[in-house]
Amino acid sequence: MVELRDATEADLPAILSITNDAIKNSDAIWAYTAQTMAQRRAWMKDRQDKGFPVVVAVEGDVVLGFASYGPFRPYEGYNRTVEHSIYVAELARRRGVGRLLLAEMVIRAERAGMHAIVGVITASNEASVALHRDSGFQSSSVLPEFGRKFGRWLDLVFMYRLFETNSHED
Ligand SMILES: CC(C)(COP(=O)(O)OP(=O)(O)OC[C@H]1O[C@@H](n2cnc3c(N)ncnc32)[C@H](O)[C@@H]1OP(=O)(O)O)[C@@H](O)C(=O)NCCC(=O)NCCS
Repeated sequence: MVELRDATEADLPAILSITNDAIKNSDAIWAYTAQTMAQRRAWMKDRQDKGFPVVVAVEGDVVLGFASYGPFRPYEGYNRTVEHSIYVAELARRRGVGRLLLAEMVIRAERAGMHAIVGVITASNEASVALHRDSGFQSSSVLPEFGRKFGRWLDLVFMYRLFETNSHED
């Protein structure tokens, strides 16, 4: 059975491996260089110290994927907007793990008083675009040629949900 829980130090090797697979083999993340364990550890600590979630999907003691959210942009006006990311290990894809992780990000963001949650997605990433659409996210217009990877320009799309429950102004 697939379960979700907050990530711990013991999950870092799996999180690192899933992250680096996406960096090396996909344009889901516009990074060119594999991360080190120290970088992933510092990222997780920073998220958790600030009260942001890092959640893993596990089956027994195998980590199938992870999700997290953090600040969208570093200015006060964005304090109630978070940007999430979701990565599922290749062998565990298309089993509903991404959908579970995304639903957990939505629940936590709403509970934390956020007004918006946004995924910043490569427009040609059909799996991610379909997952978000399927989970009730709206699309912004496509931002053309906003970055490069593997020698070609990539388009970007924001997919977001607003929480009406958290519409109050203060
Ligand atoms: C995008 C990703 C997280 C989806 O995770 P997943 O666990 O495979 O997705 P799920 O099995 O929960 O799929 C949920 C729905 O998303 C859509 N979907 C998922 N993968 C899809 C694909 N390859 N093609 C088309 N639709 C897809 C479908 O609507 C699917 O529902 P269905 O299986 O009932 O048809 C996963 O493919 C992944 O980690 N990719 C690499 C990293 C990445 O792109 N991350 C997102 C960065 S924004």
